Amino acid sequence: MSFRLQPQAPERPNRCQLFGPGSNTKLFEKMAASAADVINIDLEDSVAPTDKDIARANTIEAINTIDWGNKYLSVRINGLDTGWWYRDVVDLMEQAGDRIDQIMIPKVGCAADVYAVDALVTAIETAKGRTKPISFEVIIESAAGIAHVEEIAASSPRLQAMSLGAADFAASMGMATTGIGGTQENYYMVRDGQNYWGDAWHWATAAIVAACRTHGVLPVDGPFGDFSDDEGFRAQAKRAATMGMVGKWAIHPKQIALANEVFTPSDEAVQEAREILQAMADAKARGEGATVYKGRLVDIASIKQAEVIVNQAEMIAGK
Ligand code: COA
Ligand code: MG
Repeated sequence: MSFRLQPQAPERPNRCQLFGPGSNTKLFEKMAASAADVINIDLEDSVAPTDKDIARANTIEAINTIDWGNKYLSVRINGLDTGWWYRDVVDLMEQAGDRIDQIMIPKVGCAADVYAVDALVTAIETAKGRTKPISFEVIIESAAGIAHVEEIAASSPRLQAMSLGAADFAASMGMATTGIGGTQENYYMVRDGQNYWGDAWHWATAAIVAACRTHGVLPVDGPFGDFSDDEGFRAQAKRAATMGMVGKWAIHPKQIALANEVFTPSDEAVQEAREILQAMADAKARGEGATVYKGRLVDIASIKQAEVIVNQAEMIAGK
């Protein structure tokens, strides 16, 4: 129990985050014209070490010159264990105009990692008289990140979103897989000679959602590597949505429509949620706190569940 109200996460659509390397300039216009809610230009692991400086310069030019429409525009900087990240922050903050919305910090392992970037960003905002505050998103993709996920979620008022980065997470945890998200062949139980697959990402997903919801941050599912596997992507995204995540990355344009489909509440789900709200309004008028909807119990908690779906649909419709 707690007398504190759960803080509201930022009310903006975050169904799909489309990634593209900062070194691949021919993708920028296509990313801007895509149906993704969030654009992530990458300076980190999709950019070769020899291309770091040019990718950073390309990115700043693209932020300043391309029409990004109503996209939420984010840049993934290099990790704090490299020699590149401070230059990423300084150049973005000094040279990219107000169109940049967010900085994504990868491989965050503790709250102090976010504090360090916050200190640098805050100093540059003050020195340069920037009036639009930059928000942060982080990737949980290490053993330390998941062990400290709650303090990370609470680390900065700038923090708006937190993603699970399956590939680096698997490596850091020593998981026996090279798969990026989705079904893991060896994660199964056997009953009567049949194999039943579990979700190897379940615990990390749940931990991230709990930390995010406690601190008003958007929980997001990260990459799904096999972009030829639409059904695998859909299944992974549906599991993430069922567990409370609001969106998923796309590492190829094929995945954008799939993410938007899964993370937009369906007309049927919204209709049912509205019917539950009506059933509870009728129950309240009769002085009852619980009633029956389609043969099953609904009560005051059902109002909150239904409101999650209706609010999400209305927020997306009004985007
Ligand atoms: N954003 C926008 N458009 C993209 C795109 C992206 N991330 N990736 C590919 N496209 C475009 C291609 O330019 C091509 O356009 P065209 O039809 O006008 O020629 C079309 O989509 C089909 O691309 P395809 O040939 O199937 O892929 P590819 O071989 O060019 O690129 C990847 C494949 C995986 C290298 C590329 O999608 C990519 O760089 N993805 C992002 C990787 C990344 O950012 N990783 C970091 C986060 S994990
Ligand atoms: Mg990573």
